[in-house]
Amino acid sequence: MVNYPEYPAAPESIVRANIDRLNFYYSGNIHVLKNVNIPIYDRKTVAILGAPGSGRTTLLKCFNRMHDLAPGNRYEGAIWLQDGSNLIGTQVDPIDVRMRIGMVFDRPNPLPKSIYDNVAYGLKLRGEKDRNCLNDRVEQALSDADLWDEVKDRLNHLAAKLSIGQQQQLCIARALATEPEIILFDEPTSVLGPIDTAKIEESIYKLKGQVTILISTHSMQQAARLSDYTAFIEMGELIEFDRTAKMFAEPNQQQTRDYISGKFG
Ligand SMILES: Nc1ncnc2c1ncn2[C@@H]1O[C@H](COP(=O)(O)OP(=O)(O)OP(=O)(O)O)[C@@H](O)[C@H]1O
Ligand SMILES: [Mg+2]
Repeated sequence: MVNYPEYPAAPESIVRANIDRLNFYYSGNIHVLKNVNIPIYDRKTVAILGAPGSGRTTLLKCFNRMHDLAPGNRYEGAIWLQDGSNLIGTQVDPIDVRMRIGMVFDRPNPLPKSIYDNVAYGLKLRGEKDRNCLNDRVEQALSDADLWDEVKDRLNHLAAKLSIGQQQQLCIARALATEPEIILFDEPTSVLGPIDTAKIEESIYKLKGQVTILISTHSMQQAARLSDYTAFIEMGELIEFDRTAKMFAEPNQQQTRDYISGKFG
């Protein structure tokens, strides 16, 4: 297991996003998320823990409005941001949201472009044309994702040529490049071997304190290693939300206790 160093604490009191009585329905009536309330503290990492099918991906996709892409999907409630806007409100532009909220998926999904163009993609979409600015942001994002040294001499190579672990690091760099308010990780190591998993976890760990992170996992070990807070979800309902250390040592709810002790999941 990787031995992570202590990291500087971020102020707790700022709520970056507030999930407020969130309900979500697929195709109009398949009720998957049920009245979920979770505060997301600024520059903290929240693990969304739960068994397969519990609604973790569904919850993350509310944050970047991915559900809007399929007709009939429906949100109720709110995800409030600091500026008072509701992320899932009709007045918020889903395209704009995807710039503000980055997402890294379970399977690395680089674009069929060069390493450089993958990272610069969101910035260019936003209208950034200044070559020096693009170069700086690409270098910074690749450095923050721990990939710069490995790729700096081949930025114009196709991203598909990278190993699968490097592709996932590239996806992290792509998500970081637009300096998003929140980054969502949906089981980011589930298709990776142990060495790549350790590397990705280390990269995510290094982002702690710098960016607000939500990470979906079914692994208690991963939640324990990476998160400050854990939200435990079962069948689309929030069972418990607490500091990770507290929840794993002394869960309040029987369902959490059962999951942690391995009776379920
Ligand atoms: N497009 C969809 N249409 C209808 N139901 C869906 C759709 N996508 C997911 N579901 C259902 O919503 C529930 C939650 O699924 P979700 O993918 O969010 O779970 P999860 O916790 O991410 O689990 P896993 O990643 O292990 O599948 C499941 O019952 C799933 O079958
Ligand atoms: Mg999922």
